[in-house]
Amino acid sequence: METITWFHKESGFTLDYATSTEIIDAMKTFEVRDDDVWIVTYPKSGTTWMQEMVSAVSADGDLESISKKSLDDRIPFIDCIFPFDIRPRFQELEEAASPRFIKTHFPHQLIPQGVLTKNPKVIYVARNPKDVMVSCFHFYNAFVRNAPKVKWDEFFQHFITNNVPWGSWFDHNLYWWNRRHESHVMFVTFEEMKQDLVKVVSDVSKFLGKDLDKETIERIADHCSFGKMKKNPQANKSQNLMKDTVNGDTGNTVQFMRKGKVGDWKNQLTVAQNEIFNNLYKDKLQETDLNFDKFVL
Ligand code: A3P
Repeated sequence: METITWFHKESGFTLDYATSTEIIDAMKTFEVRDDDVWIVTYPKSGTTWMQEMVSAVSADGDLESISKKSLDDRIPFIDCIFPFDIRPRFQELEEAASPRFIKTHFPHQLIPQGVLTKNPKVIYVARNPKDVMVSCFHFYNAFVRNAPKVKWDEFFQHFITNNVPWGSWFDHNLYWWNRRHESHVMFVTFEEMKQDLVKVVSDVSKFLGKDLDKETIERIADHCSFGKMKKNPQANKSQNLMKDTVNGDTGNTVQFMRKGKVGDWKNQLTVAQNEIFNNLYKDKLQETDLNFDKFVL
């Protein structure tokens, strides 16, 4: 199996080219503040969804004010620099007033160490790894610059051998799962968000120290529905991501807000791949109490 050429290796991790060596180095000294709010996820786990929710909650449900800025400007993604960015986001964040809201996919080995040792608020969103894998496959093939198209069977092999950006789903998730009881950590799943979004908005609100009334919480949940976010140009990144291609119009038909479903993996994994993944999953998680079984197996 060949290495996927549009990713690079850095500090032992496979990373997107948009994560430069400069950014990795800057993370070693990036100063974390106790009143930061970090949204930490493995890619394609519902990051954008949680970003929009956090943004709406922190603005006390003032949806008009948040719609004036793109989501990436409200909650910058610290890991990458894209062609439309004027400078790396970490530089902007260093100068930003508190409280800062920051998105990252960095595994604990690459994240600024203050996230692990200080007490900023961390919201970790996890998702069934099979759905993550399928979502990654469509996303990387459609949106990552210079990407040669990779067939599903090949991508599956890359995912299960961690040769995908930001490394192993298992290591990433287990680190934060093991810290989920700490009072400054909130561990939530994509599936919980699908099941009861109002409850998750309410939990996020309490976690951020807000006292929002029922009507506001319901309004935020409605604003964060798949249909509303897909129509919201400040939250749906399709436009920006299309611009991120070197060749202009790629004829890409995949949307950033693709399906937003639980269990879409059933349309993609073969029976044999499902078995391989289930065995890997059981093997990796047998010593732990992280239990996604009802979504995964
Ligand atoms: P699919 O590709 O399965 O549709 P991330 O923001 O971490 O990159 O995750 C993107 C995934 O979350 C995509 O999954 C996207 O459709 C889904 N998503 C984003 N907003 C959503 C919402 N409001 N409701 C449900 N799914 C959402």
